[in-house]
Amino acid sequence: MELLNIALPKGRLGEKVYARFKAAGYPCPSIEEENRKLIFENPEAGVRYFWVKPSDAAIYVERGAADIGVAGKDILLEYEPEVYELADLGLGKCRMCVAAKKDFRDRMDRVLRVATKFPHIAGGYYASLSREIDIIHLNGSIEIAPILGLSDVIVDIVETGKTLLENDLEPKETIVPISARLIANRVSYKFKHEQIMELCRRMEALSEKG
Ligand code: PRP
Repeated sequence: MELLNIALPKGRLGEKVYARFKAAGYPCPSIEEENRKLIFENPEAGVRYFWVKPSDAAIYVERGAADIGVAGKDILLEYEPEVYELADLGLGKCRMCVAAKKDFRDRMDRVLRVATKFPHIAGGYYASLSREIDIIHLNGSIEIAPILGLSDVIVDIVETGKTLLENDLEPKETIVPISARLIANRVSYKFKHEQIMELCRRMEALSEKG
């Protein structure tokens, strides 16, 4: 049988995600060795894994370089890749929030300046409130923007809230809860259907156990 190509997000989340695949019956001993390789396979388990930047996982899956993968709901909402979302893995739980300085008060007579890595999510959220905004698209260290007066608020991911707290900011509104999702390429979903459904069933059974 052809191997299933699986895009795993590198980093903290990736370790937990691989552990979930392993527990589901898709181990790959070589991936557990300390090295800088990025591609690993275990023909016995029918899988080939590769580590990608978390924000790129959906691109590999959308274009078919990977049959399945794991991506954060934040990335799926922001880029709307043409993939199937198969399951919520319940890992990497956090939320997309509006945050600002503690003493910030919104003034409706002014355009709100919003710094974010997620312009599409932020734009959609404020459009739903009919609030006029000016998006400032940054790539990281978003928390600095309100401190330096670059923006009024930020739209960013909050997990523990520690980053906000340590930068004298606080969450003001939650836009949407976020977690890691199992996604599939649309063509693979047809042609490797049995393999993908079996994997999905096993992964979901583990998610339910928590
Ligand atoms: C996210 C986010 C915050 C931080 C929040 O960054 O942008 O900076 O995590 O986590 P906390 O609430 O637990 O403090 P991430 O680690 O994804 O790095 P990045 O901004 O470089 O993508």
